Amino acid sequence: MDTNISFTLKVWRQNGPKEKGHFDTFEMKDIPGDTSFLEMLDILNEQLIEDNKEPFVFDHDCREGICGMCSLYVNGHPHGPAQGATTCQLYMRRFKDGDVITVEPWRSAAFPVIKDCMVDRSAFDKIIAAGGYTSVRTGQAQDANAILIPKENADEAMDCATCIGCGACVAACKNGSAMLFVSSKVSQLALLPQGRPEAARRAKAMVAKMEELGFGNCTNTRACEAECPKNESIANIARLNREFIKAKLAD
Ligand code: FES
Repeated sequence: MDTNISFTLKVWRQNGPKEKGHFDTFEMKDIPGDTSFLEMLDILNEQLIEDNKEPFVFDHDCREGICGMCSLYVNGHPHGPAQGATTCQLYMRRFKDGDVITVEPWRSAAFPVIKDCMVDRSAFDKIIAAGGYTSVRTGQAQDANAILIPKENADEAMDCATCIGCGACVAACKNGSAMLFVSSKVSQLALLPQGRPEAARRAKAMVAKMEELGFGNCTNTRACEAECPKNESIANIARLNREFIKAKLAD
C-alpha cells in the first residue's frame, strides 16, 4: 500500500531566457505515493495560487507518456530517476520521506527557457520541417501485402518511431547534441520502402538544420541512450551517419 511522504521540493524559477534564475524551496507535506509527479506539482500550484503567489510554470499535455511535453530535469536526470519513462509517468512512491527533490528545466542553448521550467523546443519542429515530405501516394487503405517489408525492418522502424521528441537526449548530452532525436526520425523512414525515395535529401537537410540551430556534436558518450524515456538506441546514430555519408557520396 502506498504511504504518504513529506519532502523538500526545490524548483527552478526564471522569468525569461535572458533573466537570472534561482531555486524556490517548498516543504511538501503528506503527499500520497500514488500521486504522479505532475499532480504533485499541481498540488504545489494550488497552494501557491491560494497564497496569492505566482504558480510554477512547467510544460505538459497528454500525461500519458505520448506527447513528450513534460520536459523536467528531476534530481539530475531528464524525466527523473525512472528508466524508460517520462516525467508524467513518474510517481511519488519513487521517493522517500525526507528526500530533497530538485526540479530544473532542460539546459541547452538550443532550448531557451520561456519561463521557470518551460523551454522552447521549437528547434525540433524546424528539424522535422527540414526533413520534408514523403512522396508515397497514400490514397485508400492499402492491401497489407501490397508492399512487402521484412518483419525485422518493420519492427525497427516502429521502435524508431516511438521517439516522442521530448529533448531528453539533448538535455542529457554534455555537448547538447540532438543526434539521437534526428537519427530516430531519419531511421523510421529510411528503414521502410516508402521512405527511401527522399532518404538522401532528408538525411542531409535534417543534419544541416540541426547544425544551423546550434546543437552540439555527438562524441558517443551514450548519455542520450541511457536517459531516453523511449529507449531509443544509438544504433540509430550509426544508421544516420551511413545515410548521410551515402548521400554525400552520391552528390
Ligand atoms: S505530458 Fe505527454 S509525455 Fe508527459
